[in-house]
Amino acid sequence: MMKHWIVESDVDINKSYPQIVDSSFFLQQNEVVAFPTETVYGLGANASSDEAVEKIFKAKGRPSDNPLIVHIAKREQLIELVEEIPKNAELLMEAYWPGPLTIIFKRKKGVLSEKVTAGLETVAVRMPDHPVALAIISAAGLPIAAPSANRSGKPSPTTAQHVIDDLEGRIAGVVDGGETGVGVESTVVDCSGETPVILRPGGVTKEQLEEVVGDVKVDAALQTGEGAPKSPGMKYTHYAPNAPVYLVEGTPHDIQKLIDEKKREGLKVGVLTTAEGKELYDAALVLACGERKNLSSVAHMLYDTLRAFNSSDVDIILSEMFPLEGVGLAIMNRLQKAAGHRVINVENK
Ligand code: TXA
Ligand code: MG
Repeated sequence: MMKHWIVESDVDINKSYPQIVDSSFFLQQNEVVAFPTETVYGLGANASSDEAVEKIFKAKGRPSDNPLIVHIAKREQLIELVEEIPKNAELLMEAYWPGPLTIIFKRKKGVLSEKVTAGLETVAVRMPDHPVALAIISAAGLPIAAPSANRSGKPSPTTAQHVIDDLEGRIAGVVDGGETGVGVESTVVDCSGETPVILRPGGVTKEQLEEVVGDVKVDAALQTGEGAPKSPGMKYTHYAPNAPVYLVEGTPHDIQKLIDEKKREGLKVGVLTTAEGKELYDAALVLACGERKNLSSVAHMLYDTLRAFNSSDVDIILSEMFPLEGVGLAIMNRLQKAAGHRVINVENK
């Protein structure tokens, strides 16, 4: 039976809780345990153990060439994992750790399981800003490899129920600390060169990074879906509900015309919009994902909304698009991937 530990989301990391003691003991025993972070639920395992890390790949059905992020609770843990700390990385950690920012470092050899880094010379490290995650990592006393706790290809989990839906029977347990906050994963940034490069947009925005280190680039392969992205995970289709997703560029009026066209073809149409658009569409299922005027609320709801389409029998999902600013960059990256980069421009049709 899979364990389900329920814990307050604001545990005091200096106190002892039986759920934290128990779940971190499983990690020490090289079992995999899901836990909440401020972004999405992670599927944790001892990053130093081949046996433990293999269990993550197996539970998720994840390709073994896609490396994992190592989670730490204290800065002292970083020194043991990496060869050097570039100046820009230092500045970014100072500003945004703990928080939704993952930094790529040159890795120290022989410390972590090679399966974590999938044969790369580098390692991705992050310090999550969630009391439950920090308490579990501290109690385990280990660097914890943790990808998002979904089956590979599915939307990432933002509640313990999502984890159970995907991984029941495949993992030792889940620590249930309620809904996650940010809703999209951490920003992955490579600081090894002169100018930091965003390999995966996420919870810390490009604008926020630029406030600290000046110019920041975005890995070009992310925008087009062509070429090989530097973050191996970005090449896989991901975050996809069962029905095909299309991003639609145009006014709600234009989008409705497309919906009507699909209806005439006999398709049941789902629409992903926001509170502002909820009443504007006539379709089989219209779901509001946060409020357009507050993109953080869209990020927070995104994966839950994508998953919600799976409880309906829609044949096709048409999604509104979002501005590429602030957390909008991460929202659009995930929607592009959910849609396999299919965009319909209704104005030009
Ligand atoms: O918010 C998050 O980051 C969540 C929570 C659980 O912490 N974790 C997460 O992990 O999203 P995962 O494994 O689903 O995504 C890790 C991303 C992948 O795109 C992977 O390719 C990239 O980070 N990555 C890991 N190690 C890397 C490396 N050495 N170089 C480049 N990209 C790397
Ligand atoms: Mg993931």
